[in-house]
Amino acid sequence: MNLQDTIDKNNLPRHLAIIMDGNGRWAKQQGFLRAFGHESGSKSVKEIIKTSAKLGIEYLTLYAFSTENWNRPKLEVDTLMKILVNALKKELPTLQNNNIRLNTIGNLDKMPQSTQRELLDVIEKTKDNTRMTLTLALSYGSREELISVVKDISNKVKNNIISIDSIDDSIINEHLYTHNLPDVDLLIRTSGEHRISNFLLWQIAYAELYFTDILWPDFKEQDLYEAIISYQKRERRFGKTSEQIK
Ligand code: IPE
Ligand code: IPE
Ligand code: MG
Repeated sequence: MNLQDTIDKNNLPRHLAIIMDGNGRWAKQQGFLRAFGHESGSKSVKEIIKTSAKLGIEYLTLYAFSTENWNRPKLEVDTLMKILVNALKKELPTLQNNNIRLNTIGNLDKMPQSTQRELLDVIEKTKDNTRMTLTLALSYGSREELISVVKDISNKVKNNIISIDSIDDSIINEHLYTHNLPDVDLLIRTSGEHRISNFLLWQIAYAELYFTDILWPDFKEQDLYEAIISYQKRERRFGKTSEQIK
């Protein structure tokens, strides 16, 4: 059976987010250094981006580096930054050919200058692409994001730009890093860990969660189809009863 053909194109997650985990364990299993796991993981990134665009996913958000990941050994952090810059340089044509716009969320100021330059360059060059928005979460932490929301809104209240009574869901949304993205519909985490690790806490309020034991460098096209098929079998009720949905 061809998995791809069983996917209902009218019921795709509009916003797919992925916690790409397990590169280190994948490398260790085969007796390699963790860096090799990250290199191999970047091949899965490319395949999943192309597959998502081909399917018709509008928003794909990939957790690539968390605020907590800065606490890893310096050598590993440096390697990850190098892999990122090289991938951005190399894959610009992939983004252009597939009509994909690059976006980022996170505290980019903490990234090395060369990485920031490369990111801004690719964001600028792909800004008019319309098929899919690819968001890389880099130096991203949901708590840091929410702290920045609280600070920005507090300042506006202090300066009488908005009133306390007007603060609602949409005001919060407007101040998040993800202000230009819809809520997450499907969140995938690879590698068998069943946790969120500080990713998009507000934005996944009603996301469907999908956990798989597959390590990220082994997560390929067919695995993404399986996740989407699982998503399509679920009934999203948003607090209502099943009868109300039908
Ligand atoms: C995910 O793989 C990549 C990043 C967090 C940058 P890990 O490096 O966390 O791999 P494991 O979890 O140690 O196997
Ligand atoms: C989450 O993976 C962050 C990314 C995938 C970028 P981690 O490997 O850092 O998560 P924990 O620390 O095991 O929860
Ligand atoms: Mg991990």
